[in-house]
Amino acid sequence: MTQSSNTATAPRGFRNIGQHGIMAQANHDEAAREDFIAAMYYHVQSEVFPGNKIAYETRVLPRFAKTNKPPPRTRHEIRREMEREPAFQWWSSLRRTTQEMKQATGEELVARQIPELLKKSKVHGKTKGSLKLDPSLAIPRYLSKVDFHCQPGGYFSERTKDDITPAAIYDPGVYVLTKGFMGPYCEAAGATAINYLGREFPGFRPRKILDMGCSVGHSTLPYCDAFPEAEVHAIDASAPMVRYAHARAESMGRTVHFSQQNAEFTDFPDKSFDLVLSHIVLHETSRTALANIVKECKRLLRPGGMMLHLEQRQHYGMDAFEQFYYDWDTLNNNEPFWGTLHDMNLADVAVAAGFERGKVIETLQPNVVAADMLDTLIGEGQDFKRTALWFVFGARV
Ligand SMILES: C[S@@+](CC[C@H](N)C(=O)[O-])C[C@H]1O[C@@H](n2cnc3c(N)ncnc32)[C@H](O)[C@@H]1O
Repeated sequence: MTQSSNTATAPRGFRNIGQHGIMAQANHDEAAREDFIAAMYYHVQSEVFPGNKIAYETRVLPRFAKTNKPPPRTRHEIRREMEREPAFQWWSSLRRTTQEMKQATGEELVARQIPELLKKSKVHGKTKGSLKLDPSLAIPRYLSKVDFHCQPGGYFSERTKDDITPAAIYDPGVYVLTKGFMGPYCEAAGATAINYLGREFPGFRPRKILDMGCSVGHSTLPYCDAFPEAEVHAIDASAPMVRYAHARAESMGRTVHFSQQNAEFTDFPDKSFDLVLSHIVLHETSRTALANIVKECKRLLRPGGMMLHLEQRQHYGMDAFEQFYYDWDTLNNNEPFWGTLHDMNLADVAVAAGFERGKVIETLQPNVVAADMLDTLIGEGQDFKRTALWFVFGARV
């Protein structure tokens, strides 16, 4: 296995995280632990993962050749073979352990300062934006039953009145697990969509914007800066997420109207938005919910409006081995809908929701945040030696 000599690719340190009024504060040892986890995760992906390819080519394929059997064709067939390989067992176990370590350090970081964070989450006086909670909201099973990416309690557990714990853990967790490459405020998905809109639709100036599944607002806030004349709304089914997102946005001086809602069936009137978005949300839903969310986008859009959903890449155009790599999350990182979503034909989903096929958008867009660092990753085994790309699925009306 080669050792990387390019130190420019090292994860951005935890001390470079974008600060705001409700961010959990790390002491020296906690920051050092987070830096260890980011470095470990980077190492596991860029230096340990390539051993899988070597094992596949030098052990698995020759086994098939010896017996004259056709080689594995699908990612599932590849996985079944690879699960017997020490290289896979080693990589997969290290990756899962790193993920679990991250969730454990996030728990510790937040638990010791929760009384203070709860105080900070209460926004007093005149606010720029707003917060609307719905304690009667029925949380869909695909959300309530899953501790996504191994976060204990998922997005919904509330241990105390008006809790924000899941959001306070999630916020720095995204920064660490993406090694800082999403930007100081983890704004990469929003910034990439804005860059795409500016380049491909320069005259498009939405007056009302909705971000669905906003979590803590990482992707939401960039729209306030890109479209200062627009009214920005953001929804999430999780109360802790929208409470935290509201306090975060207020402390950062951005005006966003947050509400706790299910993106499948919102309470906004028909044709009330020019731009409806989601970022890294669809893979955490279900086949039925996805169809409902796309239908809801269609209902909410005004003539001339646009729906955009940013996600990891679909399987189209990937070879089976690459699909096997991307699919690790489905079985090992509590992301049960991940692989199914990436197999789906999303243009068909949009058409079924009432969008015209000719107005469907499916494009790969380069990540525009920390692009300097991402470019140096090419050639180091991460993302199969390609620059990082976002998959953008959407449609115009
Ligand atoms: C991975 S996080 C999204 C991250 C965020 N959009 C960003 O770009 O940083 C997924 C979020 O989507 C929310 N979510 C998933 N399905 C939803 C639904 N049907 N309605 C509302 N929120 C949903 C979850 O509660 C969670 O907070």
